[in-house]
Amino acid sequence: MIVIVDFGSQTTHLIGRRIREMGCDVVIVNPEVVLDHTTNVKGIILSGGPASVYGKGSPTIDKKIFELNIPVLGICYGEQIISYLLGGEVKPGKKKEYGPATLTITDLTSPLLKSLPQDLNVWMSHGDAVVKIPPGFKTTGVTETIPYAVIENEKKKMYGIQFHPEVVHTQFGEVLLQNFLTICNIHFQKHELDVEYVNNMIEDIKESIGEEKAICALSGGVDSSVAALLVHKAIGHRLTSIYIDSGLMRKDETKTLREVFKTHYRMNVKIVHAGKLFLKNLKGVTDPEQKRKVIGKTFIKVLEIEAKKLKAHFLVQGTIYPDIIESAGTKHASKIKSHHNVGGLPKNMKLGLVEPLRNFYKDEVRKAGSLLGMSDSIVQRRPFPGPGLAIRIIGEVTERKLAILRACDAIVKEEVKNAGLELTLWQAFAIFTGLKTTGVRGDERVYGETIAIRAIEAKDAMSAHWARIPYEVMDKMSVRIVNEVRAVNRVVYDISNKPPATMEWE
Ligand code: XMP
Repeated sequence: MIVIVDFGSQTTHLIGRRIREMGCDVVIVNPEVVLDHTTNVKGIILSGGPASVYGKGSPTIDKKIFELNIPVLGICYGEQIISYLLGGEVKPGKKKEYGPATLTITDLTSPLLKSLPQDLNVWMSHGDAVVKIPPGFKTTGVTETIPYAVIENEKKKMYGIQFHPEVVHTQFGEVLLQNFLTICNIHFQKHELDVEYVNNMIEDIKESIGEEKAICALSGGVDSSVAALLVHKAIGHRLTSIYIDSGLMRKDETKTLREVFKTHYRMNVKIVHAGKLFLKNLKGVTDPEQKRKVIGKTFIKVLEIEAKKLKAHFLVQGTIYPDIIESAGTKHASKIKSHHNVGGLPKNMKLGLVEPLRNFYKDEVRKAGSLLGMSDSIVQRRPFPGPGLAIRIIGEVTERKLAILRACDAIVKEEVKNAGLELTLWQAFAIFTGLKTTGVRGDERVYGETIAIRAIEAKDAMSAHWARIPYEVMDKMSVRIVNEVRAVNRVVYDISNKPPATMEWE
């Protein structure tokens, strides 16, 4: 069992819930009686609280607690009380700090910080701070303003952190608490992903965001859709989901999104029509990397304008576990192409991050979506790149090329669906190759566009085989494309594997 000593923080019970979710019993006690609750206890967590350690009548604990050989984790006020009682020093900060901060881990060997990235987003809420650590302690993490954001005495298994790992907007908060359980020699179990689990996630988000507002960049992909719906279930209309129609989307994408999220789920979705701006910024751009950069920057600019209007405190992102690994630089693909995800906002906006899916793999995200009642048309969606059709048009992106590609792509999509191949393929799409070839239509010579079809089988984004889709299906696609899209007179099928060919052509 873990004992949590409650110093009056609003989020003490959240610490309890997190620990319980890991399959461990918890009791929350007042500071005065903690020594009565130490039988069968494997770890003690000191919560945060609104007081100052040196204030008159401030809650405190009996120092004997540190001599019981039980690991202790102090959170915020908990860290300050450890420091204060064991010979360190605590002082009021220049001003109260409430909001996000970047924690930099200075000692990655710390058992409390195991498996965490070097830099992570954490949530601060405090007035005082530790200015001198007690003898026997060392610092393992800092922020720009807090030199003792994580302190530890590994020999005595005592740890202190200035931020709040229990709130959803501290990245890897659960990992840190799991690490503490490991230090306490507790073998925890992750809960099954079921309705109860999802409901708990919603409760957590509700309590962590409180009465504040949040925004979300909704792309219509599985991850951002599930993240947005989770947060919508938690805080309703205080979440504004911003969907930017870049004009680079597939056919009917915006219409479907409106129907699903606005009409069906009654979510607060703001659709921003920015197609003209994207095309203007893409004028004359032919280099693939340049295209991605221009699109990424334009997305962020549009999002920033909308975010500023809304005065939100939190940004919801559909980050999933593999994204975190990839952004840590292990994925070679990210060095090949600058992948861009819509959620990024400039650092100076100081928004707290809410990433409810950050511990999930893709299949778990789909399962969470289904448990939330989402239809298969959303949860089983195939990936679609952030830069959209622009990276499937070789050369400059124009309205004409987009219209041609969109029509061809819709045919590919429809025929894949008709053939029942949707779920067996990673992706299937059309590419505007920019290559003109000679053909004949009626009795006339035509000089028309060449469209390529790419259908891929893959287990992850790292490698892929071209899909052996039946010839009849290819034939249907080809015949329909040249008949229904007049500008096209030739269709080719891409038979390249990855590596060396990436899935997208640009
Ligand atoms: P590549 O072309 O790198 O694609 O083999 C691997 C997978 O990633 C998708 N992709 C992207 N997704 N932003 C995204 O969100 C991007 O910039 C991007 N580029 C490629 C691609 O569709 C495929 O599923």
